Amino acid sequence: MPAYGVLGGQWGDEGKGKIVDLLSSNVDMVVRFSGGNNAGHTVNNSLGEFKLRLIPSGIFWPTVIPVIGNGVVVDPEQLINELTEIESSHVDTSRLIISDHAHVVMPYHILLDQLEEQSKGNDAIGTTGRGIGPAYMDKAGRVGIRVGDLVAPDYLKLRLSSVLRQKNEVLTKIYGAEPINFDDLYEQCIDFGNRLRSNIASSQNVIFTALAEGKKVLLEGAQGALLDLDHGTYPYVTSSSPMMGGAVIGSGVPPSQIAETIGVFKAYSTRVGAGPMITELHDSVGNEIRNLAWEYGTVTGRPRRVGWFDGIAAKYSSQMNGYSSCVLTRLDVLDELPEVKICTGYLIDGKEVDFFPASYSDLEKAKPILKTMAGWSKPTAGASSYEALPAEAKDYISEIENLIGAPIDLISTGPHRDESIIRRNIIG
Ligand code: GDP
Ligand code: IMO
Ligand code: MG
Repeated sequence: MPAYGVLGGQWGDEGKGKIVDLLSSNVDMVVRFSGGNNAGHTVNNSLGEFKLRLIPSGIFWPTVIPVIGNGVVVDPEQLINELTEIESSHVDTSRLIISDHAHVVMPYHILLDQLEEQSKGNDAIGTTGRGIGPAYMDKAGRVGIRVGDLVAPDYLKLRLSSVLRQKNEVLTKIYGAEPINFDDLYEQCIDFGNRLRSNIASSQNVIFTALAEGKKVLLEGAQGALLDLDHGTYPYVTSSSPMMGGAVIGSGVPPSQIAETIGVFKAYSTRVGAGPMITELHDSVGNEIRNLAWEYGTVTGRPRRVGWFDGIAAKYSSQMNGYSSCVLTRLDVLDELPEVKICTGYLIDGKEVDFFPASYSDLEKAKPILKTMAGWSKPTAGASSYEALPAEAKDYISEIENLIGAPIDLISTGPHRDESIIRRNIIG
């Protein structure tokens, strides 16, 4: 019966891919519920290292049915490339279900994303350039093409011809770009439909049936709470909801079925792209963490911005999602630091606050109040026992736990499955 949400607690790249793969040993279905190939979820297992963009991270377990839910925006070309790549490692992809309700990221979305970003100049969001915003705009504007349309040629022809006419007007008249040829695009869509036909289905029905049969369904988040369209650092956000509310809408799982809401946090902060990041480090410590941890974007290769763990942002993320359980990843990255810092409050116009400001101007002004803690001399990399952790690392974990206000039930100490400390079996 129950469903479990695994959500990014910060600005994305918390290590959700590793955690979803790990927890998938104990579930029957893994559903990606939002975002598109702006996501890059890394999974390391006996077959190698995989950077998944659209395919759910549970795909490697033969016992799991992976589902791309209705809330995802799917770039079919990217998905086909990804399928081909993991098939070459002998992973069975025939079980993958792609929701017929999911929206398609079209070539014009990708073009528009890039053109819109260029036209914003210094105000650019720093998107991944994968057409995510324009695809969700069309979904909300009710001019999107859905995955199910790729296998309905007559309907697709009608719909695409009217949508493309309007897109070409924008491309040529506003941006002075070349128009997209209808016949070429239509043919491409039909090819995509033929390649993906056997995987396209009504995901909602499949999920309802699984829940009714008492199966365990894991809802895999992409991005992170602070990139949420409504609750994140708007306008420097993505165009979907990476939160529990988004999980419910993007999968069709009713809220009453959610057994656990699991927040994934990394032991410090990173952010890719523009926007407020109050604990950002601009000094040599930031560079050291970036290089120790190889903090470069999975999707775009951009250097990630690095900062101390932001307890105020984490508390906000926790309040909005209501985490019943949390995961802390990349603890090992901090192993070599003589001291670590945690943000326990913000200073705004000389006033101390302990909440995440609602207004963008306050966010821009906020300075971190940092608590310095002793580093740990012994390495935690690869550790699998909580008891064996250095006392300073335990203190650090417990400080974070207090700030988040939810238990840290799982600690990750390396990219591989066995580099994990399990304090409670979150999925019973
Ligand atoms: P996601 O988008 O949340 O799935 O995270 P990414 O895959 O984009 O980035 C997380 C990176 O950290 C990947 O390279 C993972 O292999 C790696 N990783 C995950 N957990 C750990 C950990 O506990 N320690 C270390 N050192 N690396 C980790
Ligand atoms: P995963 O699932 C980190 C960021 C982009 C940009 C903003 C908007 O791997 O954690 P978009 O292309 O979505 O319109 O870009 O959101 N962003 C991510 N940052 N991890 C992600 O996904 C991200 N997906 C989007 O860098 O700042
Ligand atoms: Mg990522």
